[in-house]
Amino acid sequence: MDPRKRIEELKSAIARHEKAYYLEDRPEITDVEFDALLRELGGLEEKYPRFLTADSPSQKVGGGVSEKFSTYKHNPPMLSIDNSYNEEDLLKFDERVKKGLGKTEVEYVTEPKIDGLGINLVYSSSGRRLKGVTRGDGETGEDITGNVLVIKSVPKSMTFEKSWNQVEIRGEIFMQRSDFEALNEERRKNEEQEFANPRNAAAGSVRLLDSNVTKERKLQLFCYSMYIFDEKGASIENVFKTHFEMLQKLRELGFPVSERVKKHKNVDEVLKEIWAFEKDRHKLPYDTDGMVVKVNGFADQRELGATSKFPRWAMAYKYAPEQAETVIEDIVVQVGRVGTLTPVAKLKPVFLSGSTISRATLHNEDEIKKKDIRVGDSVLIEKGGEIIPKVVSVIISKRPRGAKPFSMPTNCPSCGQPATRAEGEAAWRCVNRACPDQRLEAILHFVSRDAMDIEGLGPSTVVQMLEKGFLNDCADVFRLDYAKVAELEKMGEKSADNLRIAVETAKGRGMQRLLAGLGIRHVGERAALVLSRRYASVDDLMNADEEELSSIFEIGPKIAQSVAEFFKDAENRKLIARLKELGVNVKSDASKPDSQALQGKTFVVTGTLEGVSRNEAKELITRAGGKTAGSVSKKTDYLLAGSEPGGKLDDARKLGVKIIGLPQLREMLGE
Ligand code: IVH
Repeated sequence: MDPRKRIEELKSAIARHEKAYYLEDRPEITDVEFDALLRELGGLEEKYPRFLTADSPSQKVGGGVSEKFSTYKHNPPMLSIDNSYNEEDLLKFDERVKKGLGKTEVEYVTEPKIDGLGINLVYSSSGRRLKGVTRGDGETGEDITGNVLVIKSVPKSMTFEKSWNQVEIRGEIFMQRSDFEALNEERRKNEEQEFANPRNAAAGSVRLLDSNVTKERKLQLFCYSMYIFDEKGASIENVFKTHFEMLQKLRELGFPVSERVKKHKNVDEVLKEIWAFEKDRHKLPYDTDGMVVKVNGFADQRELGATSKFPRWAMAYKYAPEQAETVIEDIVVQVGRVGTLTPVAKLKPVFLSGSTISRATLHNEDEIKKKDIRVGDSVLIEKGGEIIPKVVSVIISKRPRGAKPFSMPTNCPSCGQPATRAEGEAAWRCVNRACPDQRLEAILHFVSRDAMDIEGLGPSTVVQMLEKGFLNDCADVFRLDYAKVAELEKMGEKSADNLRIAVETAKGRGMQRLLAGLGIRHVGERAALVLSRRYASVDDLMNADEEELSSIFEIGPKIAQSVAEFFKDAENRKLIARLKELGVNVKSDASKPDSQALQGKTFVVTGTLEGVSRNEAKELITRAGGKTAGSVSKKTDYLLAGSEPGGKLDDARKLGVKIIGLPQLREMLGE
């Protein structure tokens, strides 16, 4: 049979089965049969690489590729928990609780606060269909069912009692420390970007578009709440009297619950457990950042209620980060991708919170001056959420005689060109475009996981490519000569070919990732997303001026200025032109209509809307297939009115046009 035809056949069969398995929960074939299809496809593509395309399921290491995540509205919302950092705050919490309930003593439950990612597992009455949703913004989360299904400890079904129609189990997805370290070790070997901490690794793994990778990541689950609904969707409240009872039921149903869950008669007992756990918590195989204290009785919880952000019946007690003492052996200055010079302390290696530390960031010149940090100093260091710890303070009494204050180099340590420090900014910067370190960092950033995500282009490869002149800028990534690449150290033909495929795949990533990768100052993942929602392509964005940019919700003046400046620069415009020539997709996925929910409907927008500009509201409408008009007429279907709507409101009333607010619009959009 014609290989090309067979490849097409296999691709569409695989797509169909993935949909049936992950999204519709009605697999038509067994896993073994499914894997056989994938293997056959992979084999054919290997034999006929010219038929290999970026969108092939084989490029996503097999199935579970969802288009983008769809959303799910949590009911009740997934709230956060108020934090306390000392006993006093916790005692105040206890006082508030007692006062609120008119009691002199209240029972509590304590649970470790696991540093992971909140998840909502939704089971519906047949007990068979499971949906997994991230916490998202608390109101709306992303449907990541495909990835949740591959987590071993997530029960795929549950036993329902008669009146139960839907059950939502909430908990935390996390990664054990040892699995996190093994994953990073592997990534280091493959020269891939490492995860900063187990939490980031878990969050990154669970939101992958490819469940097969998620499956390999060894994620785990602990559950801490359960909501039960009847046929009408009303919450059934009387199943359990206490939180502790509910946790036991969860365990019985096969849901993992932390082994360190305890019930306490009063706040004194709670404090004892908090102190005891402070010592024990490092013995656990996973990271915890505190203890969650919850009122045990559900009637009490209901009486206390919640603010829009936190329940009034829970409080997290956070442990202070651990510190260690060590010595600064040297201070080196690193050059970042946009030329920022960052001083970094080289430390005498010291063990802190589970790992050996040999570097700490010193942030910038002012920070060093403020803390008067000098080479030779004994310092206290502390680990925050990131890989690189920070210096908390200098132990002045231990300062060696003759230690000199540090002064920032006035020239870039990489290229030797003079560095500058702009007024009002803390950072010294190297402004030489050709600076080798800057170029290296810029390219590494461009290909990194959060940007163009090109596997196989790690630091040592990029360094070689820069040295050999294969690469000068980001666009060159797309015109590599793979015969030459194969000859690089640690490369070979197979790796070069894998790289080629990764690069080809990356061409299609689209505007958001491209923007995030370009190294425009202040433009990270979020700003890139916002911009790619607003503009259909990089070309459109390039022509927007600062004023227009800063009128976009979530784009502040700093970002607006930086984006406008970036695209004013002829070099950068040339770079975009070259990227396009090389077949890189500069268009936005996000600006395509998301749905056709408003197809054929005409809207007029008036007044001040909460949190969005009128332009953004119009964009929401057009993206969903609707039309917008400037004035109300008989043809208008809806008037979207904010506060101080003016004359259009009267027009709409006269003509009997339906008047809606932003919440109704969001509802129509299915948000
Ligand atoms: S209860 C209404 N219990 O911490 C209270 N949350 O900072 C809902 N978390 O969103 C949460 N361990 O993702 C609860 N034992 C625990 C927890 C826990 C970790 C997370 C959870 C929550 C966040 C709030």
